[in-house]
Amino acid sequence: SDLAAFAFGLPKAELHLHLEGTLEPELKFELAARNGIQLAQTSVEEVRATYDFTDLTSFLAVYYPAMEVLQTADDFHDLAWAYLLRAKEQGVVHAEMFFDPQAHTSRVVPFSAVIGGYRRAAVRAQDELGISAELILCFLRDFSAEFAMATLMEALEYKQWIVGVGLDSDERDNPPSKFAAVFARAKSEGFFLTMHCDIDQVGSIDNIGEVLRDIRVDRIDHGTNIVEDPALVALAKERGLGFTCCPVSNSFVTEQMKADEIVTLLREGVRVTVNSDDPAYFGAYVAENYVALAAQAGLDEADLAQLAINSFEASWLTPARRDAYV
Ligand code: HPA
Ligand code: ZN
Repeated sequence: SDLAAFAFGLPKAELHLHLEGTLEPELKFELAARNGIQLAQTSVEEVRATYDFTDLTSFLAVYYPAMEVLQTADDFHDLAWAYLLRAKEQGVVHAEMFFDPQAHTSRVVPFSAVIGGYRRAAVRAQDELGISAELILCFLRDFSAEFAMATLMEALEYKQWIVGVGLDSDERDNPPSKFAAVFARAKSEGFFLTMHCDIDQVGSIDNIGEVLRDIRVDRIDHGTNIVEDPALVALAKERGLGFTCCPVSNSFVTEQMKADEIVTLLREGVRVTVNSDDPAYFGAYVAENYVALAAQAGLDEADLAQLAINSFEASWLTPARRDAYV
């Protein structure tokens, strides 16, 4: 349709994208063969049949084991490069990409291989695709704060390759406060801060309050449960805080896109953005998320353009480079 063509053509930033969540089954088989790994499934269709998620936990139970095929710097490069080629087709001109080093170092893959491969793809994207690509180091919240701090220390050697830090994985019993010291240290090192506040998790609204008032993040990933507390919405608006929403992902882990919440915030002038989260698993890259949200909520071209403007305003581009896009 015309609106879909408009959505694909809009220059946009993608701000909520897990590189490990871009592993398409075809590449998974290629990497498995390269590394001599025998997979439990024998066809792409069989792999896709396991993508039967009902919530965040059932998604994560498929997501982490799939990473076994990622072993060398070349593997990480190839994964990120495949994403960046797709991103180009989706109108992405700037990407801030999450990666989960602990999902690899915990199975004895060196941090240097992970970040070295990803960084090589990011540099190549600038040179060959005209996409500026940055990395956000995500801590896994179901591991200890000590492991997170050790990972941060290991990352300092690569500081110039990392724009910010985030927090993902299972939110249950792993509130933001668990990582307060890690995030304070990251901030003092000059990193931007963001954290996942996943949709409809128990205690979600309390976690959003903590993240805004105590941790003082620069952005929130998901976080649309904030609509439950008008005072927090007012605070987020006053700070110009970005929210990285992922409608198609929401429809997998909650059975709803949460379009009402996203559009309520958009209409109130809160900086909501649209992103793909784990596109290989949820079957939609970023422009496809714009299209899905537009269809669900009856959005028009002006709304989609505002979402794209928000994506630059909520980005961690330098002000001069941001202003060149908005
Ligand atoms: N939430 C929590 N952990 C994740 C996600 C998410 O959306 N994607 C990848 N890891
Ligand atoms: Zn996410």
